[in-house]
Amino acid sequence: MADEVIITPTQNGPNLIKGRVRIVWPSGNEILTNGTVSLCRCGQSQDKPFCDGTHAKVGFKSVEGDETAHREQVAPKTVA
Ligand code: FES
Repeated sequence: MADEVIITPTQNGPNLIKGRVRIVWPSGNEILTNGTVSLCRCGQSQDKPFCDGTHAKVGFKSVEGDETAHREQVAPKTVA
């Protein structure tokens, strides 16, 4: 699927977002990516929402199994 976006939570690291994605800040600034971008999920990046590698320095550990969850194991969530 050409417009498909793939989000991959990495083990003890960022979410990798692959595809054409628009990131919009509350200020209205935005960027359009068309490739792979790493978004922080440890909360420690100094360049949020992007990963800057700090997760490794702070020893971030992802929740066991969340990188390997399958669609059948995760209940769909509706975004309001
Ligand atoms: S996941 Fe890499 S700095 Fe947070």
